[in-house]
Amino acid sequence: MKTVEAACIGVGWIGGLRADTLSRTALVDKLHLCDIRPDRLAEVKALYKPHTATLNYQDILDNPNISVVYISTTPEANHYPIARDCLKGGKHVMLEKPIALELWEADELIQLSKRNNLKFTIGYSQRFNPKIAFAKKKITDGTLGNVVSVLVSRHLSRALGKKIASRVRLSPVVMESTHDLDFVYWLLEPAKPVKVYSQGAYGYMKPVNGSHDVMFTTVTMDNGVVVMIGGGWNLPPSYPNYCATWIEITGTDGAFFIDDTQRDNWLSTEKSGQEFTMSTMPGEWVDHTFAGGIGPETIHFLEACIKNGPVMVTPESARRVMETYSAADLSADRGEPVDLPLSNETISAIAEFKEKIRAGTQP
Ligand SMILES: NC(=O)c1ccc[n+]([C@@H]2O[C@H](COP(=O)([O-])OP(=O)(O)OC[C@H]3O[C@@H](n4cnc5c(N)ncnc54)[C@H](O)[C@@H]3O)[C@@H](O)[C@H]2O)c1
Repeated sequence: MKTVEAACIGVGWIGGLRADTLSRTALVDKLHLCDIRPDRLAEVKALYKPHTATLNYQDILDNPNISVVYISTTPEANHYPIARDCLKGGKHVMLEKPIALELWEADELIQLSKRNNLKFTIGYSQRFNPKIAFAKKKITDGTLGNVVSVLVSRHLSRALGKKIASRVRLSPVVMESTHDLDFVYWLLEPAKPVKVYSQGAYGYMKPVNGSHDVMFTTVTMDNGVVVMIGGGWNLPPSYPNYCATWIEITGTDGAFFIDDTQRDNWLSTEKSGQEFTMSTMPGEWVDHTFAGGIGPETIHFLEACIKNGPVMVTPESARRVMETYSAADLSADRGEPVDLPLSNETISAIAEFKEKIRAGTQP
């Protein structure tokens, strides 16, 4: 049986889920873990019994036996340099979103993976949500006819929003609606986005990092399909890292509505009140089984590497999503629609907008 040596760089919440999954599968011969936080590294070492554990990812690069690497680090600015080093070092890479912070960085990662004949994918785990996979199936087999509209409304708990927004000044459309843009574009393939119009509203998050609480983004596709994606991160606690999503897809021959608000598992206790359990976006291990998308997604990438099969999410599709959310940020700032694909003028305006954010002169 063919097995591989795999590594996780960054083993916080998401990297911990990846490490947990990799520690259970017979496809991994030896597991290697890396985190710059000694306390967290000691914790995952005790939990998942890796072959090696290191504070420095150079040790992963230096080990020629490691062929598959999962990168789940924060802050998101380190995605590009770590992924670049791994791809240069000949490793297959699964990287969490965002693929990079700049379009040229994403382009370089894509080039490196192609030149070195390596698998490279982005962790858009909602594609492994069975409800969304079913929507894809019903669109592909023609049940819905021609799709007319897609609406996605996703809200995260404010504790998670605060965690994300405190480490990096990225908006809800970049950090959250990115998942929805990814799977909606997948559902609507081969249609391409041609226009984006986004608006944001301030509330709880403004004092935390100046960000909107909620952004609503409309995307027009080149075949006329209209997409509306709402992403917010100001819900009161309902479960640690709670996420609620409502999806409506209409077509010429049918419609498919998905209630992914996660209110179907209701735990009520004296200590914690009411909680909607198993309701995080990536999912969680429940003893012997995984509730959610990240478990199957982790194994899918491993199998794509071992069997030399296609990855579910191409980096080119992640780049297209990146173009859209970058345009959405600009649109919300300007209060007007932005055309896609990005023109040089728009790329320059996005760079200027990001500069204002970094300088703190943008609300
Ligand atoms: N797919 C999903 O549903 C989903 C959900 C949440 C987050 N994410 C993404 O996953 C990524 C990780 O998020 P998280 O919530 O696990 O963050 P986290 O902060 O809990 O974990 C990140 C870990 O990376 C470590 N790290 C930072 N720099 C490092 C380096 N140079 N070398 C090794 N380790 C390093 C940190 O010490 C930390 O333990 C983010 O990019 C986020 O956007 C995806």
